[in-house]
Amino acid sequence: MSANEHLNISSGRVAEPGLDTTHGAILYLEEITVSFDGFRALNKLSLDISVGELRCIIGPNGAGKTTMMDVITGKTRPTSGTAFFGQTMDLSRMTEYQIAHAGIGRKFQRPTIFEQHTVFENLELAMKTDKRVRPTLFARLSSEQRGKVDEILKLIRLNGSERRPAGLLSHGQKQWLEIGMLLMQEPQLILLDEPVAGMSDAETARTAELLNELRGKHSIMVVEHDMAFVTEIAQQGVVTVLHEGAVLAQGTMAQVQADERVIEVYLGR
Ligand SMILES: Nc1ncnc2c1ncn2[C@@H]1O[C@H](COP(=O)(O)OP(=O)(O)OP(=O)(O)O)[C@@H](O)[C@H]1O
Ligand SMILES: [Mg+2]
Repeated sequence: MSANEHLNISSGRVAEPGLDTTHGAILYLEEITVSFDGFRALNKLSLDISVGELRCIIGPNGAGKTTMMDVITGKTRPTSGTAFFGQTMDLSRMTEYQIAHAGIGRKFQRPTIFEQHTVFENLELAMKTDKRVRPTLFARLSSEQRGKVDEILKLIRLNGSERRPAGLLSHGQKQWLEIGMLLMQEPQLILLDEPVAGMSDAETARTAELLNELRGKHSIMVVEHDMAFVTEIAQQGVVTVLHEGAVLAQGTMAQVQADERVIEVYLGR
């Protein structure tokens, strides 16, 4: 059963002209290999993500999870294989900038927020705007833009903290702000690499809530080692286990947790 059949997600909501998602997939990786001096960090990796899906990726250190995200975002070029965003965009022919502009947003582990600026200003700076029309930070926002910022503030649990300098936020709050900044760009596909690393249990639980609220509204790929967190957000969705640069197993969390090979290389350790 493909992820698509499994989740039965209809497209449309996140689809835009130019991104033909008639087959329901927003990302296709086919037989991607990445060699570093002969070592295969990715070894004929094939994987696809449906529109609106929240896909969890797990697997041991060195499995190739971050390398896969590097390939999707154009940071690393595959040695061989194909990577498509929607039906028409060949990621191997696009620069990192073009890929980001086309709608793939990535959150790195270390926040890249502007510490001197307030929470509100950070979101404002991240807003998808035509810079020729609104060149300065403090130009008035339209009510629609203001509404968008307010919506994101609530979602990332920072309403009430919007005037605080971002540098004063807790580690978890900074991570949420970074997710909020990504969302301001209205990406079609969001990649999160270890979003709860270093968070307190309470922050981790709130991050799971946040991602559950995004479910179905965005296509999201989440890499995490925190299995309690993955269980919270995977629900009945598909979990992919990477090992030695390829997919070892795929299914619901319950299915992969019961898989002997997964226990052997990862969960049982
Ligand atoms: N630029 C590089 N040059 C050489 N080897 C690399 C490079 N980037 C990654 N690797 C190797 O590729 C393998 C996959 O690394 P990657 O960072 O993708 O793993 P990961 O699944 O994200 O692991 P972790 O869970 O520890 O973050 C590792 O063995 C790593 O050492
Ligand atoms: Mg990694």
